[in-house]
Amino acid sequence: MRTRIEVIEADITSLAVDAVVNAANSTLLGGGGVDGAIHRAAGRRLREECSALGGCHTGDAKVTSGHDLRARCVIHTVGPVWQGGEAGEAALLASCYRRCFEIAAERRFASIAFPAISAGAYGYPLREATRIAAVQTRNHLERGSDLDRIVFACFGEEVREVYLATFEDVLGPNLLSADIPGTP
Ligand code: AR6
Repeated sequence: MRTRIEVIEADITSLAVDAVVNAANSTLLGGGGVDGAIHRAAGRRLREECSALGGCHTGDAKVTSGHDLRARCVIHTVGPVWQGGEAGEAALLASCYRRCFEIAAERRFASIAFPAISAGAYGYPLREATRIAAVQTRNHLERGSDLDRIVFACFGEEVREVYLATFEDVLGPNLLSADIPGTP
């Protein structure tokens, strides 16, 4: 199994993948940022489906249909609010990525796209947030991935540059947007 890692500048709502990840809040009822964009693009049936889920704890994730999105499903995860770094934020953000990868494996998804969870309204410093994304991706690949594609949708070129630098650091220069050997 080989997994392709893509770090692209993109509006995540435009991506045709099995699952887009939503950086939601614990109500799962929508909000601003990428959450608002996903709910607008997916339509009101997404909110209806979310309202039956009973919310979601920080660090956890829940899946719904993608409704009017090009993506088949949405994985809603709730990242931590940055409080200076001493409130367990790193473990909670790592847990978001782990839960998303777990759901992708359970559902046998072939492709998934992540935004920079917690790095907007929730104030997580982007460089540290991308490092956690990269480490959790590496851990996932080391465990053996069924995913063909893992996409990191960067909102703006500056965000993409930060991703590229930290991903290259964690995953190695040859592994980005290239074939990554997973364990069989
Ligand atoms: N596609 C990809 N990335 C995007 C998009 C998009 N369409 N729109 C924004 N981003 P944020 P958080 C980037 O604030 O920090 C919401 O109100 C954005 O530039 O969306 O986890 C929720 O309801 C940033 O890099 O999520 C919660 O209350 C990243 O996505 C709260 O915000 C995350 O920014 C969650 O805050």
